[in-house]
Amino acid sequence: MTKPVIRPRRLRTSGALRRLASEIRVNPAELVLPMFVREGDDARPITSMPGVVQHSIDSARRAVVQAAEAGIGGIMLFGVPDVRDATGTGATDPKGILNLATRALVDEIGDALVVQTDLCLDEFTDHGHCGVLAADGHVDNDATLERYRDMALAQATAGSALLGLSGMMDGQVAAVRETLDGNGFEDTAVLAYSAKYASAFYGPFREAVASTLVGDRRTYQLDPANRREGLREAQLDIAEGADIVMVKPAGGYLDVLAAVAAMSDIPVWAYQVSGEYAMIEAAAAQGWIDRRRAIEESVLSIRRAGADAVLTYWAVELATWLKEEQA
Ligand code: PBG
Repeated sequence: MTKPVIRPRRLRTSGALRRLASEIRVNPAELVLPMFVREGDDARPITSMPGVVQHSIDSARRAVVQAAEAGIGGIMLFGVPDVRDATGTGATDPKGILNLATRALVDEIGDALVVQTDLCLDEFTDHGHCGVLAADGHVDNDATLERYRDMALAQATAGSALLGLSGMMDGQVAAVRETLDGNGFEDTAVLAYSAKYASAFYGPFREAVASTLVGDRRTYQLDPANRREGLREAQLDIAEGADIVMVKPAGGYLDVLAAVAAMSDIPVWAYQVSGEYAMIEAAAAQGWIDRRRAIEESVLSIRRAGADAVLTYWAVELATWLKEEQA
């Protein structure tokens, strides 16, 4: 009987060795917490995302302080308006909920973390699409770009440091960049949701922003079958001047993430979306998986695939665990 000479198990024999041999680790500073802010004075739970709430501006202020104490890198804000209309007027109104919340949270937290905003119309339109509709009902790309330009100005004026362009309109990065630069916002950065797929895993997000969608998003978001097309979208966004590109969802698209990370010379982020959150929470609630280990493994896998930072609804809890482990 020949005994194995090469024994990879050696480096797994103790916790200390495993820790030293680990190829990557997750740091609080590279986690971003998505946050929902509604109008009115009370925070409200989101049934399909246990543990996540629609904040009031006041409760969001407290949450952002907590987030900074946990050491995370930033927050991504979504507005939940009371009133919606065809063109998403609330998105560009300086008194619209997203712009008000942005100003409040930037004033609250200063430089302790990066306040970012979702730049998309779906939270603000009554039909729930990411853009404005043409007479025949299709999402009008170029008319939407005009709305995005105005949204970019409103958000930059409100103090957002990084605009998350999640609408998947062609030319949106170039349009927003041009408007920012033409209005003295040269230093406001653009995060392009470049490879954003038409995914079933955004399901709970609809409840989170109280939005009802007429139809689906397949004429603008990517077909889940297409990896090459995801790469092309990222290349285009880099050429148009994006500061960061993103892949979304994360868990089911790690191949796309790895491919974008391999070719990109700017930071690559990934968004662990509402459905990814809900699946783990639901299975854990049933006692079918170990909640903490599943959360840690899911985010670690996204980092391993090549994400420099991860948007995750567990950002603060995960950061707290990571700090405990380091201590
Ligand atoms: C668009 C947007 C969506 C999400 C983030 N930005 C919804 C969509 O495109 O359908 C989904 C995030 C999640 O599911 O956690 N504003």
